[in-house]
Amino acid sequence: MNPSLDPIFQRRSIRAYTEQPVEPEKLDLLLKAAMAAPSAMNCKPWEFVVITDPEKLALFRKRLIFGNRNAPAAILVCGNPSLSVNPAARLFWVQDCSLAGENILIAASGLGLGTVWVGVHPVAEFVRVVRDITGLPKHVTPLGLIYVGYPAEGKPARTQYDQKRVHWQKYQKLNH
Ligand SMILES: Cc1cc2nc3c(=O)[nH]c(=O)nc-3n(C[C@H](O)[C@H](O)[C@H](O)COP(=O)(O)O)c2cc1C
Repeated sequence: MNPSLDPIFQRRSIRAYTEQPVEPEKLDLLLKAAMAAPSAMNCKPWEFVVITDPEKLALFRKRLIFGNRNAPAAILVCGNPSLSVNPAARLFWVQDCSLAGENILIAASGLGLGTVWVGVHPVAEFVRVVRDITGLPKHVTPLGLIYVGYPAEGKPARTQYDQKRVHWQKYQKLNH
């Protein structure tokens, strides 16, 4: 495959991490990648909470049932629709923040870091737990928690390309 796309195909969900901390400069780069994402009317309705405090990370591990991962850092991707100056753009905050989140995953892959996305919104209980741990106000919604660290497991690069999911010019019914 084309090496320019290596960070995309090499990105895999990593659920075991070494104890090596993530350099603050690398966390900054990930945030720069996040904020390079496109957004509806370029309203950028995102905010990020970076967590490296071991006590806070332990709380996530304990209280998020699908989020028990030992990473030394996490980035919480949040939507704040009130940042969208154009009200018509506010409806798109999930798409805007998802694109920012995917940029983090791909950028981390390119930097040799592992990540896993832990879904938060729209599960009310996960939203409540994350609000409680991070002190998010009501008008800011946690979309997903991205654990970040150096991988302690290896996974092969891959695409999951499936020709049946691709329709050219017109939708054709799947035969199965
Ligand atoms: C919206 C969303 C929610 C996810 N939630 C979790 C989660 O709570 N815990 C987890 O370990 N992985 C979670 N994942 C990671 C997926 O399980 C993973 O992306 C999928 O199995 C494909 O594997 P890959 O990332 O290695 O390609 C989530 C991914 C997405 C996109």
